[in-house]
Amino acid sequence: MAKTLIRGALVVLPEGPVETDVLIDGDRIAAIDADSRTAADSIVDAEGYWLLPGVIDDQVHFREPGATHKEDLQSGSRACAAGGVTTFLEMPNTQPPAIDATALQWKYRRASEVSPVNFGFYIGATPDNLAELQRATGIPGIKIFIGSSTGNLLVDQQAALEEIFAHTKLPICAHCEDETTIAANLQRLGPTLELEDHSRIRDVAAAVVATRRSIDLAVRHQHRFHVLHVSTAAELELLESARPWVTAEACYHHLWFTDQDYQRLGSRIQMNPSVKSQYDRLSLWEGLRQGKLQVLATDHAPHTLEEKSRAYPASPSGLPAVENALALMLDAVRCGWCSLADLARWMSDAPARIWGLVGRGRIAVGYQADLVLVDPELERTIRDEEQWTKSGWSPWSGETLTGWPIQTWVNGQLVYDRGRLLPVLAGRAVVCDHQRGGFWATPDGIGV
Ligand code: DOR
Repeated sequence: MAKTLIRGALVVLPEGPVETDVLIDGDRIAAIDADSRTAADSIVDAEGYWLLPGVIDDQVHFREPGATHKEDLQSGSRACAAGGVTTFLEMPNTQPPAIDATALQWKYRRASEVSPVNFGFYIGATPDNLAELQRATGIPGIKIFIGSSTGNLLVDQQAALEEIFAHTKLPICAHCEDETTIAANLQRLGPTLELEDHSRIRDVAAAVVATRRSIDLAVRHQHRFHVLHVSTAAELELLESARPWVTAEACYHHLWFTDQDYQRLGSRIQMNPSVKSQYDRLSLWEGLRQGKLQVLATDHAPHTLEEKSRAYPASPSGLPAVENALALMLDAVRCGWCSLADLARWMSDAPARIWGLVGRGRIAVGYQADLVLVDPELERTIRDEEQWTKSGWSPWSGETLTGWPIQTWVNGQLVYDRGRLLPVLAGRAVVCDHQRGGFWATPDGIGV
């Protein structure tokens, strides 16, 4: 088995960053603090660089099957590799949606044919696919759209939700925006809408009502539950009392953009849940630092610029992010928003623990060698025309960030090297072990 020695990097271990040498043997991390004279097939001189656990993005939309003009499993997974994302978990709102074993098997097979990075796929809930949800095993979890978004997946009837929480075993995650609140806001605003109304239609109340409702379900049924893309300060207050059943995440766009940015960026920042106020944005950062939110995810949701340029509300919601997420956070570390250890916890360790991803999410002996080497001094400006995503743009276009991934290993194999993707299909289906009890059950307490 091939050995790779990564020498002299600042290595971000679960207990914090240490300058040391890491030995990869085959697909695993074989040693930390390895003897720097160890014989290896390749030696990476990484002095001045940072070595991080590969990013695990637990919320992406790669559009295959059904809308592959925006993205497909190959283009999306390549964008992951270039961005230091070594595992993605994909949402079920494709066409047809992934709501049964046949559709899931298709996605797993397709990903194994094209993906340089590891993958997992959620099963989508519908009002009447309980038997499929019960039969599904070996996948990260069940996704419920409690509020509708792109596609037609929606379960918002109380009886159907009670059934799902009562009679399934996989962890559940949900898109929490309340349909009734949204309908009332639409009614109030009348027929002529402008883009800024998106944040008035999908407002704070819409998010809070649905998050409260789903947390109530999770706690009553004692069911593991993850709140996707928390966008408001008010939701943070609901989360603490719901432990240990509930975990939650923030998305980069909610940490970077507010409703004041529509003027500058237009429908590029039209997302569900919508961007909110500056107060909400800063509260999300604080929520992460205080441990009220445990995970960062992209909600990578590509649409073409042509689709985005339609007049609101015909413009679709969603933005691509997967290849820029790590660079955004490295820049945030440089600017003092958080530490390198925070970054690794929120982007790798916590998602691995929540979704039971065996052997992933940390730089530790015996773990899979999913690693990303970062040049903390590298400065680059994001440009639409240089994006790997098939959609060909980024809401951060024009931003100059310092700190970028330069090399990515997946299961010990180099898949991305300084701007070049290597023709290696190193990605595997993640193994999910939900018996371990999820995020709050970890005995060493790291990240809690
Ligand atoms: O804005 C969004 N777009 N939010 C979602 O949750 C789904 C996504 C999509 O698939 O386009």
